[in-house]
Amino acid sequence: MNIHATLAETSQPRFLMCPPRHFAVTYSINPWMDPQAWAEGGAALSEAATRQWAGLRRVLIAAGAAIETLEPERGLPDLVFTANAAVVLHRKAVVARFRHGERQAEEPVFAACFAALKARGLLDEMLQLPAGIMLEGAGDCLWDSRRNLFWMGCGFRSDAAAGPQLQRYFDVPTVTLPLADPSFYHLDTAFCALPCGGVIFYPGAFTKDGLAAIHRYVGPADRIALNRADATRFAANAVCAGRTIVLSSCSLALRCALERRGYTVVETPLDIFQRSGGSACCLTLRLDHASTTTSLDTTGGSISRLASKIGPATSFSRRSG
Ligand code: ARG
Repeated sequence: MNIHATLAETSQPRFLMCPPRHFAVTYSINPWMDPQAWAEGGAALSEAATRQWAGLRRVLIAAGAAIETLEPERGLPDLVFTANAAVVLHRKAVVARFRHGERQAEEPVFAACFAALKARGLLDEMLQLPAGIMLEGAGDCLWDSRRNLFWMGCGFRSDAAAGPQLQRYFDVPTVTLPLADPSFYHLDTAFCALPCGGVIFYPGAFTKDGLAAIHRYVGPADRIALNRADATRFAANAVCAGRTIVLSSCSLALRCALERRGYTVVETPLDIFQRSGGSACCLTLRLDHASTTTSLDTTGGSISRLASKIGPATSFSRRSG
């Protein structure tokens, strides 16, 4: 079947974003964050962040997306990373629970934001995880629209125990991917599931079990493995809107691999946000993900058959890092 047919969006992609008015690096909870270097950079860094964020928003709108805006709050410099706000599927949002005290004050702000989206008819339901289970939203839980499953990263921020909960809330399989490299502490820093079935990933970010799980569910032709150079410019932290893939920067080789799959690749610089350990995908939260039951994969198998072959949540308990 024509690969382009499988890329067709059924509805306008809708993202939640938060302007970087109070964005800064004032603490360090991942290896990219250096508060002293940020302070030395002065106002120029804040101005660049404003410009780069506006650039990302513009590119997404040009790709056909609708943007919902969350008001920034003083004292919450990482609120700009809305990917971490929740896991959203079928108009249901499971609100994040953060590992580090530095980000926990964002939880009520995101909860209020989802309540407002619900009041406006953009969501139906908000759910809270059981006490003690950490899950940093879509930063660690990526929807794979081709395989009808969630990929969930764990080991640094989110708990493997969140997997069965998500399966219960959403009734879709969750494949758990233990992370191994502290520089790739959220799944979305090293993994991106494309609507055509292709998966961009950085092998060095995963434990042996994590890599085995990727190889189990993603056939060789769909594996787009990054080298360290592309991984460290967060090329996997890409946002997909229709046939457009938006990222901060990538090699010519990656651009060509994506173009061969029928995508338009748009590079928009976001290096200022990488000083906090984030990039394009981290700055957005897709609000309209839904499972599909009718699309066919290129070998003619239906997604629902594929999902049932995958079966219940796969959990690897090994924790590293
Ligand atoms: N400074 C933030 C943190 O360490 C960056 C979050 C990036 N978000 C993401 N989805 N990877 O929590």
